[in-house]
Amino acid sequence: MSSKIYKKLGANPFRPWPARITSITQLTSKEKLFEFRIIDQRVRDAFHFHSGQFVELSLFGVGEAPISISSAPSKQGFIELCIRDSGTVTGAIHQMQCGDIVGLRGPFGRGFPFEDMKGHDILLVAGGLGIAPLKSLINHIHDERHAFGKVTILLGARTPSEILFRQEFDMWKHREDFDLTLTVDQPEPGWDGEVGLVTKLFDNLPVNPALTYGAICGPPVMYRFVVEEMRKKNLDYDRIYVSFERRMKCGIGMCGHCGVGHQYACIDGPVFSYWEALNLKEAM
Ligand SMILES: Cc1cc2nc3c(=O)[nH]c(=O)nc-3n(C[C@H](O)[C@H](O)[C@H](O)COP(=O)(O)OP(=O)(O)OC[C@H]3O[C@@H](n4cnc5c(N)ncnc54)[C@H](O)[C@@H]3O)c2cc1C
Ligand code: FES
Repeated sequence: MSSKIYKKLGANPFRPWPARITSITQLTSKEKLFEFRIIDQRVRDAFHFHSGQFVELSLFGVGEAPISISSAPSKQGFIELCIRDSGTVTGAIHQMQCGDIVGLRGPFGRGFPFEDMKGHDILLVAGGLGIAPLKSLINHIHDERHAFGKVTILLGARTPSEILFRQEFDMWKHREDFDLTLTVDQPEPGWDGEVGLVTKLFDNLPVNPALTYGAICGPPVMYRFVVEEMRKKNLDYDRIYVSFERRMKCGIGMCGHCGVGHQYACIDGPVFSYWEALNLKEAM
């Protein structure tokens, strides 16, 4: 099952849309933020997505990799991807320049239940590169801030120099309508923030379980411990959402590479409620 855009345009979901790199920002030694503009205006105008969805980044003659969309759905006309140099495709795009052309397929998958989350407090927890899809959600919540209660964001990284979007988050720390805390496993000279695992930030954290949705993104090892902390705060399993990264190829439920239990992460996920995840063999 491919996304609505393919039905609307009668397009082939295996065929990438050509897109131009319009900006590149070096975030850390391993991650860069790329901004893309789809070249065909008809496609650009029809390209709508939800936070938590992903695209297949296609480099001609190199290959494809699934990458979460980092920008907010409201940022029409441009798509941001935060990409870690970790292999063939991601290494190749790190060598590319502004103006170069890539291919994008998507948007694919099921994102966060944004509409259901409205009217609730939100507790977002991200570790490492997990901030990429959550940043889209944070910015989307920011765009419709009046529709949400208290928004708490807990971010963990191994070291201060590995914190992604550091400048943006340093600014957000001072906002009254977002309660954002950063923590690192290993401090570096000049770091005056929290030290320790992101789970430590749950100590004394006030949470109203009847009103709160949780969302978690990060390395797989983090999920179980963060869910445990959310459960200690009495959040229901079906109000906790996690994003699963599985090996993917087609992105549209055809190749079978991304099986999680009896479902496919590319179409049934990558965002699942923890309740759904518990019922999926090998999910956690
Ligand atoms: C839904 C989804 C969203 C993602 N979002 C992002 C993102 O926002 N930013 C980002 O940098 N990366 C993201 N990834 C991860 C990225 O797709 C993989 O790292 C991918 O392998 C990169 O392709 P490559 O050709 O550069 O690496 P490859 O050369 O294919 O692989 C490099 C190494 O990673 C291993 N590997 C491949 N796929 C995975 C996987 N899914 N999980 C764990 N190990 C894997 C390979 O076995 C190999 O050891 C996402 C993955 C998924 C499924
Ligand atoms: S990536 Fe092919 S079925 Fe999911």
